[in-house]
Amino acid sequence: MAAIKNPAGQAVAPPTARFGGAARHLIQPWPYAGAIGNEARTPIEAGDGIYITDGDGRRLIDGPAGMWCVNLGHRREELARVMADQAMELSYNTPWYTMSDASAVLARRLAAHAPGDLDHVFFTTGGSSAVETALRFMQFYNNVRGRPEKKLILSRGGAYHGSTYLSASLNGRPRDRDWMDGADDLVVKLSCPDPFRRPAGMTLAAFTNFLVDEFRDTVERIGHERIGAFVAEPIQASGGVIVPPPGYLPRIRDLCRDNDILYISDEVVTAFGRLGEVFASGDVFGIEPDMITFAKGVTSGYFPLGGVMISARLTEELRRSNHPQAMFGHGYTYSSHPIGCAVALKNLDLLEDGVLDHARAVAPYFQARLRTLEDLPLVGEVRGAGLMACVECVADRESRNPLALDNAVGKRIDAHCHELGLLVRPLINMCVMSPPLVITRDQIDDMVAILREGISRTMDDLRREGLWQG
Ligand SMILES: Cc1ncc(COP(=O)(O)O)c(C=O)c1O
Repeated sequence: MAAIKNPAGQAVAPPTARFGGAARHLIQPWPYAGAIGNEARTPIEAGDGIYITDGDGRRLIDGPAGMWCVNLGHRREELARVMADQAMELSYNTPWYTMSDASAVLARRLAAHAPGDLDHVFFTTGGSSAVETALRFMQFYNNVRGRPEKKLILSRGGAYHGSTYLSASLNGRPRDRDWMDGADDLVVKLSCPDPFRRPAGMTLAAFTNFLVDEFRDTVERIGHERIGAFVAEPIQASGGVIVPPPGYLPRIRDLCRDNDILYISDEVVTAFGRLGEVFASGDVFGIEPDMITFAKGVTSGYFPLGGVMISARLTEELRRSNHPQAMFGHGYTYSSHPIGCAVALKNLDLLEDGVLDHARAVAPYFQARLRTLEDLPLVGEVRGAGLMACVECVADRESRNPLALDNAVGKRIDAHCHELGLLVRPLINMCVMSPPLVITRDQIDDMVAILREGISRTMDDLRREGLWQG
């Protein structure tokens, strides 16, 4: 059988004898058809602080903090301890008929941090289930309010909202949907608010106006009475850390309010310190959404937990509706899991007791140091905010053409950086950096130095292979 290649042309690693060939039985996320159930990925054996150790014993900086989630870093004794204690106290309770102290206390503490009147929380098992919950809640809310036509969802190019059927239908990254079905009749896509890829010659202010006009025109064309929700990451994370132009989010927020469209802010990545605050929607972007979805950093990845913050206005309207008997037929066996909620409470303690301050203090240094990479001719732009950033490579800086090099670039940089001691998250022609929030200035220096060397080696390879002349 021919070897399966990833888009960089590297052979997908077949299972090894490691673990007695056990990996042959494991299917990991986002596999290629030809490699399903027949692939080994980099074994990771241990973690400590911002570092992980691979199967060859090599210590690596965890550049993406797992999947943007290990916010407090690996091997935090306090988090491990609280999980063990909670498991010995109460390992599980059904959320259908009972509740735990940890879940109620966590709900109250999250409500205190959330902007506006987002006083209520529905806990889920992760980010996709959080987005799914928010969308189903919108559908339920409009059904109860006697508006069954008001269900369409506005999403944007470059978005990533999850891997359940409805949440995945919102995804707008190129290639995510090439071979996959979706609920396309329920979703309307708007432009990606990517300033780097705005039309040549257009000012940032004009670009913002273009995006706002497009939103307004779309609502007029379709009719606000058919649109239930707008869903947006404040900064599009997996789309390549796309920071929208100034003023864009508040203006869209206003349009949603004017048209009675629920604004769902997907903070699965941006919450819990990634932008220096527990929630970024209000504190960083000055908006009060109707719902906020979160996951990942809420437990620093130590336990699968997510949730949706829901506005008291919406719950009040439901309570006062003509259908108080209508049931929101939605929930998970592991909603409000006591171990997840207990670890989230300790995680929040630690964020409040210094980690948020630290993240805010080092973020400008992190951003400035990464931007020094812009002197490398392969780098088109370094962008980001807080402790999330993206290095976007281009074949040609003038035209900003990413295509000629495409997938070859991110994966090649990743491979070199791995040798040098840094795990990168390669995304086509981009490298995303979102390390644990506890990273120090010295560690940031190490990270950027390795990245510089990894990109330089990649440039040498591309030149040598005649793929790039920069
Ligand atoms: C913004 C955003 N929303 C939702 C999700 C889905 O979360 P999960 O993988 O926990 O289901 C992700 C995952 O990366 C995400 O980045």
